[in-house]
Amino acid sequence: MADKILEYLHSSTGKQIAAALGMPVPPQLKRAKAGYADKPLAGVNALVGASANSATAAALVKALDMLGANLKVSSDLAGLDGVKQAAAKSKVDVSISQADAGVSESVLVLDVTSAASVADLRLLYDFFQPRLRRLPGNARIVVIGRPRGDSKDALAETAQASLPGFIRSLAKESGKNGTTANLIQLKSGAEAGLEGALRYFLTPHSAFVTGQVLPVVGAPKGAKAVAFSEKPLTGKLAVVTGAARGIGAAIAEVLAREGATVIGVDRPADESTLGATMSAIGGIVCPLDITEADAGLKLAAVAAERGGKIDIIVHNAGITRDKMMRNMASHLWDMVLDVNLGAIVRCNEQLLNGEAFGEGARIVCISSIGGIAGNVGQTNYAATKSAVIGYVDALSKELSGKGIAVNAIAPGFIETQMTAAIPVVTREVARRLSSLSQGGLPVDIAEAVTFMASPLAAGVNGATLRVCGQNLVGA
Ligand code: NAI
Repeated sequence: MADKILEYLHSSTGKQIAAALGMPVPPQLKRAKAGYADKPLAGVNALVGASANSATAAALVKALDMLGANLKVSSDLAGLDGVKQAAAKSKVDVSISQADAGVSESVLVLDVTSAASVADLRLLYDFFQPRLRRLPGNARIVVIGRPRGDSKDALAETAQASLPGFIRSLAKESGKNGTTANLIQLKSGAEAGLEGALRYFLTPHSAFVTGQVLPVVGAPKGAKAVAFSEKPLTGKLAVVTGAARGIGAAIAEVLAREGATVIGVDRPADESTLGATMSAIGGIVCPLDITEADAGLKLAAVAAERGGKIDIIVHNAGITRDKMMRNMASHLWDMVLDVNLGAIVRCNEQLLNGEAFGEGARIVCISSIGGIAGNVGQTNYAATKSAVIGYVDALSKELSGKGIAVNAIAPGFIETQMTAAIPVVTREVARRLSSLSQGGLPVDIAEAVTFMASPLAAGVNGATLRVCGQNLVGA
């Protein structure tokens, strides 16, 4: 499925015509061409700031150094002190940068975890304002704050509560050249999860994620810490439902790229398409309707045949049966509820009861921004996708102590067969109404799922991350 208008506007004739007519051209997003690298920011200038008394600046400086970035601090603002102290402590080199020195940084990271008053918020202005005019295309902005309930008093909570609004607005202002801006809410004591989250948000793996808030709250109790290695999913057995085509096929491919062995599940009627997708990645074909009463038991049996337990399950299979509620036949309600929600809950119950999950397993569910904003004609679909967001939150708590993390990805408009079926005008509006002025590709969802399924998301649990280019629908 392709966005023909975008393809045309990126051709040389299209660019000339757009320039002559004064039409904005959606940015060409820089996506990852290969798997996670050890030093993804080698040769990249990263400007970093932090308040003088930040308790997380040392972890931040260390993480950026691990990623290979050329660390710079700005001489013209208060953030200088916090970073210099942290760098000296961590024995990491930093150089001084000036806003008007002509050095362009394509990564800007600001730690405001210690912002505890209205006056402390001035750092946001001082750090970003002088630099935004010169940001190169596909730049990365990350602000680090605290999640709700993690600050010492009401005033500090208030200062932290400014950050989601700030980052969403900054993302809207800076998306025109493909720049993304996201907020990591780092819980005190969860610093070990920072490096992994930065590996995702500061690299092309997250090209279609902007204006989002991701809480990093610490690994589930019982989970072992794993240091970064290339191909981080080597030796892992991953189940992907709805893997024959679209987003599911892309998820299977990216999980395999990072080293996982994939069991691809799809309806028996789609076995030949599934076979082709799996043979391209050395995956295992599992024709199975996930609404079968014992689908979870069957998946456990397939994993056991391979001599293993399930390390990752991605509940991606989903359907739409759109009708205005007043015209909706009951079987359309039941069908959508069962495929998109009932099957996931049943399957997980059977896998958990049968102890079919491996140590430190990851469950990733696919929600939708339709479940956040609601859509006309989608009461059934939106109810299921909204439920998934509550489900991952609740299940992550219920599984506390078992070392299993549960998260969700909420895609926005993604170019697949599902969205190709949308009437043309609605489709064009849905595509363009985002900060990046385009729809996403299945690989964007696959990258986000793979992040959630890997040790990079060790500190993330119970969260839903939107991958939507900050689409206005669902905002
Ligand atoms: P798709 O229709 O292209 O693929 C879905 C796959 O699931 C198909 O291969 C289908 O055969 C399989 N499937 C459906 N029912 C099944 C069942 N009972 N048992 C086994 N397999 C079954 O859909 P797409 O676009 O790839 O969507 C994937 C997921 O992403 C879905 O959960 C969808 O709701 C969600 N999503 C997609 C968006 C988009 O823009 N394409 C936006 C938001 C969410």
